[in-house]
Formats: sequence, C-alpha cells, structure tokens
Amino acid sequence: MSTKTARVLVLVCSTRPGALGPAVGTWLIETITPRAGELDVELVPMAIGDLDLPFLDEEEHPSSGLYAHEHTRRWSALVDAADGFIVVTPEYNYGMPATLKNALDYLGREWAWKPIGFVSYGNTSAGTRAVQHAKQVVTTLRLVPLGRTVAIRIGDAVEDGRIRPSATLAGAAVGVLDELVRVAHALRPMREGARPGLPPGPLPGSYLRRLTPDDAPEVTVVQRCCWVDEALANDTLDIPALHESPEQMGEWLATWHAMGLWRDGRLLGMVRARRVDTDWHVGRLGVVPDLRGRGLGRWLLRTAEAAADPSCRRLVLHTGVHSRQNIALYQGEGYRSEPHTGDDGTTRLTKAITPPAVA
Ligand SMILES: Cc1cc2nc3c(=O)[nH]c(=O)nc-3n(C[C@H](O)[C@H](O)[C@H](O)COP(=O)(O)O)c2cc1C
Repeated sequence: MSTKTARVLVLVCSTRPGALGPAVGTWLIETITPRAGELDVELVPMAIGDLDLPFLDEEEHPSSGLYAHEHTRRWSALVDAADGFIVVTPEYNYGMPATLKNALDYLGREWAWKPIGFVSYGNTSAGTRAVQHAKQVVTTLRLVPLGRTVAIRIGDAVEDGRIRPSATLAGAAVGVLDELVRVAHALRPMREGARPGLPPGPLPGSYLRRLTPDDAPEVTVVQRCCWVDEALANDTLDIPALHESPEQMGEWLATWHAMGLWRDGRLLGMVRARRVDTDWHVGRLGVVPDLRGRGLGRWLLRTAEAAADPSCRRLVLHTGVHSRQNIALYQGEGYRSEPHTGDDGTTRLTKAITPPAVA
C-alpha cells in the first residue's frame, strides 16, 4: 500500500441559519484529527455554503470539463486536489439536502475513483435515508461510498446544540476515516490511470508517467530485481542499481528525465535519460521479469530517445560487457558498440541522432 499523504475534504452540507450541521462538523474534526495525524492525512474542513455555488448554472455538461464560472473552477480545483471526502449531511424529507446534490452535479471526472464517507444526522432514522439516497447518486460519478458510517440520532446524541461525548460515536467516526484512507490508497492507481493526458503504454491499461522522488520505493524494487540478471551475466555485485538507497534514487529521480511504465499501480518498467554536452545519455532501462519478451524494453528505449533534447547529436548507453541480451537489443535498435571497455566492466554504445529533415 502506498504511504503517501491523503487529503480529505470534510464537507458540511446544511446552510440554514442556526443549522446543526456546523456543530456536527466541528465534533467530527475534533474527533478524527488525532487519527488523521497518525495516518498522515490532511483534513480540509469546508462548509458548502462558503462555496457560493448557485443552482447549477454551467451551460456545458460537467463531463466536458468546460467551466464558464469562477465558482465552478474553484470547486473543481478543490475536489480535484482531494483524495477522498467525508460528507456531514442532514436528512431532509427522506433524502439528501439539495445543496449536496447541487454540489455533486457541478463536476464530473474530479470525483472519479475517490472514496466518500458519510456522517449523517436526523430524527428517527439518524439521517440514514439521506445517505442511501446520496449513495445511489455518487456511484454514477464513480465515487466509491464506504460501508463504515456515522449515523447520529439527534434526540439521543445532541445536548445544547452540541454532540454529547460518546465513545461509540467517536469510534465510528475514526472507523470512517480509517476505511476512507485505505480505500483512497487502493484507488490511487485508478485515479492515476484516468488522469487526462497520460500517454498509453504498449500493454492494455498501461500508461507512461514521469517518475518523481515519490516513486523511489517502487523504483527500488524494480531496480533490485532487474539488475540481478546483470550481476549474474557479469559475475559482479558492483552495480550501482543494486546498492542505491531509496534516498539516493530520490536524488537522481529529481534531476534526470526518468519515465515509468505503469499498470494498475505497478511499475512495470523504467528508463532514465539526460543531456551531457551534446549527448543524450540513456540508462536504467529495466522491465520486470514476468513481462520480458513483450517489447516493453524496446518501447521504453524508443520513448527515452524521443525525449532527447533537440540540441543533442548522439545517443549514448552503457551496459555490462557480458550483458549479451542488452547489447543485442541495443544493436538491433541501431546502436554501435565502441571498442573501449570502461574500468567498471561496462561497455559503451552510441547512435547518431539524425536531425529532422527541413521541409
Ligand atoms: C426541510 C427539512 C426536512 C426535514 N426532514 C427530515 C427527515 O426527513 N427525516 C429526519 O429525520 N429529519 C428531518 N428533518 C429534521 C432534521 O433532521 C433536523 O432539523 C436537523 O437539525 C437538520 O439539519 P440542519 O440543522 O443541519 O439543517 C428535517 C428538517 C428540515 C429543515
């Protein structure tokens, strides 16, 4: 599971003067803040009334992402930046309040593949009918409603306009946050795969994404397993990819043009490149063992070549002198081995970059 921070929007939905909603929201934030700290969660409390959203006034369908109004763009940015939501909702006439339905209707892809938890309150049903109503709507938006819930019966739980301290309710609230964070992490690959503008990879469902220092844990695993073959072929363990710490990887991931091929949250292969004078150095080309022989390495190599700085005149690669399979791949792609062998047991291969023909 990813350990990256999650941002959770806590949305208080009632807007009536004197509404109970803000008190429920305050209780919820106070109750779950310690757990949020332990889980590395950023809680973002928000009152729906503060969004100044009129009844949906956008001309285009939300799926277009074309927003004419500043209030929509602001709301879109807030939802887009969140990894999950906790909705604090009353029950109005056996359903969710119109404010919540309106706020949901405004947007489309920003909601997709994010968990949504509910803290409901009401009279006889403790707001549970509002939650059932909302669940039916949110799934259309690809929001994923949680099973864990907090349902507050006003007559039992509210005293002087505040939620009376209750270990049962507090436990339920923490339970919602726990489940929300687990689901948010589990859905992260779905969110990433749905992000607009990511180039598709050669396998169905795969895509290419620039690697960042946040990816160091996944890069560590791929490097450790991929370069074992290099160690065997060259009879040496003196290979940087086998020894680098995640911190060291984080450093080069911040400076190199490093690309990862991903599918369903798994890093399938990687390559890195950078300019050195007028050369474009390509390296750390690796593909996970179970997906070799499917052209992924070749595809990644070509991707790295295509990213070459326009001022570069030559592509340069290094590999172990005995890495026969790598050398065959590179030669098949037009690289020539240089006669010189490095002190570190590597050999260098180069290929001229042909400048594009001028029309
Ligand atoms: C328009 C309206 C409709 C309501 N309908 C229900 C209902 O269907 N079920 C229920 O349990 N309580 C219902 N109530 C009572 C609310 O649960 C209670 O007033 C609660 O405090 C409303 O939340 P708010 O104060 O945050 O607006 C309704 C209240 C209002 C104002």
